[in-house]
Amino acid sequence: MINKGPLSPPPSTVGRGKRAQPTLLADATYRNPAIFASGQTALYHNDFLNVYKSWPDPTVIISDGAYGVLGFDGDTADASRLTDWYSPHISAWSKKATPQTTLWVWNTEVGWATLHPLLTEHGWKYVGLNIWDKGKAHIAGKNTTKLKRFPVVTEVCAQYVREATIQGLTVKEWLLFEWKRTGLPLYEANIAAGVKSAATRKYFDQGHLWYPPPPEAFIKLVHYANLKGDPAGRPYYSLNGKRPATKEEWLKLFPKFNPIHGYTNVWKRPALKGKERVSLDKNGAAAHLNQKPLDLMRLLIEASSDPGDVVWEPFGGLFTGTLAAYLTSRKGFGSEIDRDYYLMGIHRIQSALVGSSTARPLPQQPFLYGERNE
Ligand SMILES: C[S@@+](CC[C@H](N)C(=O)[O-])C[C@H]1O[C@@H](n2cnc3c(N)ncnc32)[C@H](O)[C@@H]1O
Repeated sequence: MINKGPLSPPPSTVGRGKRAQPTLLADATYRNPAIFASGQTALYHNDFLNVYKSWPDPTVIISDGAYGVLGFDGDTADASRLTDWYSPHISAWSKKATPQTTLWVWNTEVGWATLHPLLTEHGWKYVGLNIWDKGKAHIAGKNTTKLKRFPVVTEVCAQYVREATIQGLTVKEWLLFEWKRTGLPLYEANIAAGVKSAATRKYFDQGHLWYPPPPEAFIKLVHYANLKGDPAGRPYYSLNGKRPATKEEWLKLFPKFNPIHGYTNVWKRPALKGKERVSLDKNGAAAHLNQKPLDLMRLLIEASSDPGDVVWEPFGGLFTGTLAAYLTSRKGFGSEIDRDYYLMGIHRIQSALVGSSTARPLPQQPFLYGERNE
């Protein structure tokens, strides 16, 4: 259910005073719809926690919420309160995530360190930490001599995934467990999978050498086990208890990752400035102090999903992640609690939809969800 009632204002912080007032949005075009929906993109003016249940399961979740730096209304004053702030959100993501889901968590380094135990407690498996290095230009002109530390020019973006379990076993454990059930010797798995020794050395390894068999090898293993294994124990390698698993079911047990050529876990990329920064007030002030680079959001999405997949952006701001989802042909779902940001965000998305230089053509089915927004 969408709560369309008035939202209670989040506690005030320094963020509000600094940001632009969206005077241009006084234009009658903007009726403050609770939902803006166009083609595969849906934006909600609401607390994420009120709306996510109606969203399809995510392949990608991009979290860019509280940093503990009073960056927007409702951000906390320091990292120590981030656990409380994120707790209901992480719990919500965990309920709807699947083994294919990747979670990207933007934050400061201490913010991420604070959240890491909470994420693992909720079943998120840490994959890696990426550093956005904004370069020295970020501190140019600032007096850094009084600082008692090196000047900070970075943000981090941590990658987490879910781990599938089958009958209480991890995939790694299940692969070996099922083979043992067949009664066949372990070495025969190499013959079954058509590999020299990878089945016994890798697919059945229970330590760090393990990696899952590619789908073709898995299917060969499955066929062999069901053909030659002890008939009393069939089916082997079944996910539904009725028949052996298929290639499609096997693929769904893992998060997606498409390597992007040339990228390491350090992203050298200047902070947003100039035209890249959205400005919608008449003085040209930044619309949102926390706007993220579109190219980095695209990178996350392209690395961890395919066209047609669902991308969640719970803390939309100007909906950079949802815009990146649109530009890469994913289904984008975003929510933003603050009315001004939300309106500026839909203005931004709408401009992309109707043909900025980077936008794709307007989708054929423009209004799938909620109200029309013309
Ligand atoms: C760090 S900013 C996101 C900036 C965004 N990534 C961008 O590029 O524009 C976080 C945003 O989350 C919003 N927010 C905070 N709590 C929220 C909640 N419970 N539901 C939806 N939005 C929320 C804030 O108003 C703020 O605009």
